[in-house]
Amino acid sequence: MRSLRLLLVVAVITQGAALSAENGAAGWLRYAPVENPDQYNALPAAVVPLDRSPVVQSAANELSRALTKMLGHPVLTGSAFSTMPKFVIGTVTEVEARFPQWRPAAQLGFEGYAIATVRDHGRTDWVIAGANARGSLYGTFHLLELVAEQKSVSSLSEVSSPAEQVRWMNQWDNLDGSIERGYAGRSIFFDNGGVRPDLTRAEEYARLLASVGINGCAVNNVNADLRMLTPQMIPRLARIADAFRPWGVRLAISVDLSSPKAIGGLDTFDPLNPRVIAWWNQKVNAIYAQIPDFAGFVVKADSEGQPGPSQYGRTPADAANLLARALKPHGGVLMYRAFVYNHHLDWRDLKADRARAAYDIFHPLDGRFDDNVIIQIKYGPIDFQVREPASPLFAGLRHTNEAIELEITQEYTGQQRQLVFLVPLWKQILDFDMRADNRYTPVKQILEGKSFHRPLGGFAGVANVGLDMNWLGHPLAMANLYGFGRLAWNPNLMSSTIAENWTRLTFGSNPKVVDTVDTMLLSSWHIYEQYTGPLGLGTLTNILGSHYGPDPQSAEHNGWGQWIRADHYGVGMDRTVATGTGFIGQYPPQVASTYESLATCPDDLLLFMHHVPYTYRLHSGPTVIQYLYNAHYAGAEGAANLVTEWKTLNGRIDDERYEHVLRLQTYQAGAAIVWRDAINDWFHAMSGIPDDQGRVGYHPGRIEAEFMQLNGYVPVNVTPWETASGGKGVACERQTVCSVATTLKRPAGRYTIAVQYFDYLHGISTYTLFLNNKVIATWKADNTLPSDSMNGDTSTRDAIGNVELHPGDLLKIEGRPDDGEPAPIDYVEITPDSSNSR
Ligand code: GCU
Repeated sequence: MRSLRLLLVVAVITQGAALSAENGAAGWLRYAPVENPDQYNALPAAVVPLDRSPVVQSAANELSRALTKMLGHPVLTGSAFSTMPKFVIGTVTEVEARFPQWRPAAQLGFEGYAIATVRDHGRTDWVIAGANARGSLYGTFHLLELVAEQKSVSSLSEVSSPAEQVRWMNQWDNLDGSIERGYAGRSIFFDNGGVRPDLTRAEEYARLLASVGINGCAVNNVNADLRMLTPQMIPRLARIADAFRPWGVRLAISVDLSSPKAIGGLDTFDPLNPRVIAWWNQKVNAIYAQIPDFAGFVVKADSEGQPGPSQYGRTPADAANLLARALKPHGGVLMYRAFVYNHHLDWRDLKADRARAAYDIFHPLDGRFDDNVIIQIKYGPIDFQVREPASPLFAGLRHTNEAIELEITQEYTGQQRQLVFLVPLWKQILDFDMRADNRYTPVKQILEGKSFHRPLGGFAGVANVGLDMNWLGHPLAMANLYGFGRLAWNPNLMSSTIAENWTRLTFGSNPKVVDTVDTMLLSSWHIYEQYTGPLGLGTLTNILGSHYGPDPQSAEHNGWGQWIRADHYGVGMDRTVATGTGFIGQYPPQVASTYESLATCPDDLLLFMHHVPYTYRLHSGPTVIQYLYNAHYAGAEGAANLVTEWKTLNGRIDDERYEHVLRLQTYQAGAAIVWRDAINDWFHAMSGIPDDQGRVGYHPGRIEAEFMQLNGYVPVNVTPWETASGGKGVACERQTVCSVATTLKRPAGRYTIAVQYFDYLHGISTYTLFLNNKVIATWKADNTLPSDSMNGDTSTRDAIGNVELHPGDLLKIEGRPDDGEPAPIDYVEITPDSSNSR
């Protein structure tokens, strides 16, 4: 082997790095100085890359830079034959050539790695050997993670290989720089119809992804822009591939199947037409000429208005194989999404069921897909709801490769303004035993190809990071991006392990911090489920627009098929074989019989599977309606507790992230009250059944704005009605300043005053709260909530605690509208003092 030139690149040691502002840009790769660096004295202070490939070079540079920061002394890159102890990084073949006495402790799988110590000429070297260059990068990140978490590495001998070969991100970025269902700023890839000139963030993203083992990224919206395949675009995409390459992330793109016709000058895009076949072959060759490691295509076809093979009477297999065959000679794969359904279903037809679509369409095609096709299946049969059963299609394809599609971007789960750690949701699907052939066949093993002996399988995560400094908006949402990668590598990991690892990396290893953040993460999904969609109802949001605030009625009476079929007597979709849509019959028999029978159907999926009267008693005891009421109260309380828990970290983490999360959690606690009241009022109106604890519809502390003394404000009916207390609010529509006022009758004491108002996407209204004509609080409605009307998306609150009130006090709120936002107000709520202070 050729000896490598001594590089001696001294990594920069940034003095005081630990004290620098923590804006989240580093994600979990902060490399904060460890508390007791002496425990790592046995680690070498030199790093030797065994080849010059960009990926191995990245690994070596990362190791030297990160150890230098964490351990506080320089760790340099050096020569393979120096007499110093060193880290040696390369492929297994390269490492074995350098150390003939060494073999990995176990066979490495695809892109796996081995980390071990080797005695050589009386000193101990550390090898990080990958099945390929990527493997050595993943091994390097693993070692760094152990140090960053301050774990012992003294007798490290590890071999690890990913469960899945395809571990991809999907970004839904548009060429104009917007991102479909993105909640953290504009695209890091595109702007103004092309690729951004500066791809620094794209490269930083690839580094983050590589650190958790992600090896591919489709960079554009699945509702693909036809311009993606124009000759001018390919060199631009090649720039993104260049930015990704040092981190082993391969570029993929989403394509529109109609491209041969729409931009290719053909009069057809029929997948069996020879001219169409030739067009795709030529296009794919052109891509590989400029991007030799191109990963492949993602296809959304015959779905939500996207063109597809059905237009020519062809099947998804015809379409998938067309592209797969063009990609095959270059080693590319084709991810064909199973999210194919008719969004013009007849809601009056009680047998119609969107949940059936993927299985009905793809199961008959099993075995007809080429080997480099992977069917990309959303975890549940509907669409990333807060809870769904595992898609029956996972067990419905025995002779076809499968990938699971998970949504990191919190489209239906609070849009990164609210905390939902999704790993437990994903785990519950991955661990779900489909009982195919009456044997243990959990989804995770099916994906690995183990259950049905498939050569390929994968994970696709819809991430939608944006240009916001901290990538996803909510600092704690990064746990989802991290967790996705960890699970794609090893779906057997426990949620609690992932939470703990991420917290240590992100906030350090103070036990109080780790314990508190982990508790918050691990409880957050259930809390959110309780106030947005318990019992398998799905997220009861506005499904026709924002997918954010409460709007249960929007699910009904339209073709989209997210029906909950609520009427005056009962609620839930009857998906039984006996009397319903027959969806349950798509599962293998043991699972089907569990869901089919009310006696065995789990409560948390009851209303996904069955239509029952509101008075139906759950296994857990209460009636359905009472459970709905209780869950919403418990969820709102849980959201309030998240604030209390977070406050215990004041002073234990940096102020910047502390304040940011505090603001978001306080907002979430208010949003949970909006959800609680909207959904409970709606079901109360629907069922006519009172809450046996008397809470629903009874708000003794509330004063409705429309009943206050109005000066300039006018009462407005809010749509949907349940998203405003009493169905109404007030708006300052024609004045520059308006006010509402009321004389209080509360007994003397200390109170918290909450003002519930509507904060539009546009406009920054100003509110001022006066007590006896003295200003006690003022704030601006500057949140960017996803609507410009008074509704459940925009309803929010500000509260001031510890206010001394006396009977006869005059409370006044002054609102100053801005840019079309009419400083709207819903109500004021006065509660005997609590810790709810601003
Ligand atoms: C959801 C989402 C869309 C997206 C679609 C998909 O319906 O709201 O924005 O295009 O999923 O996954 O294709």
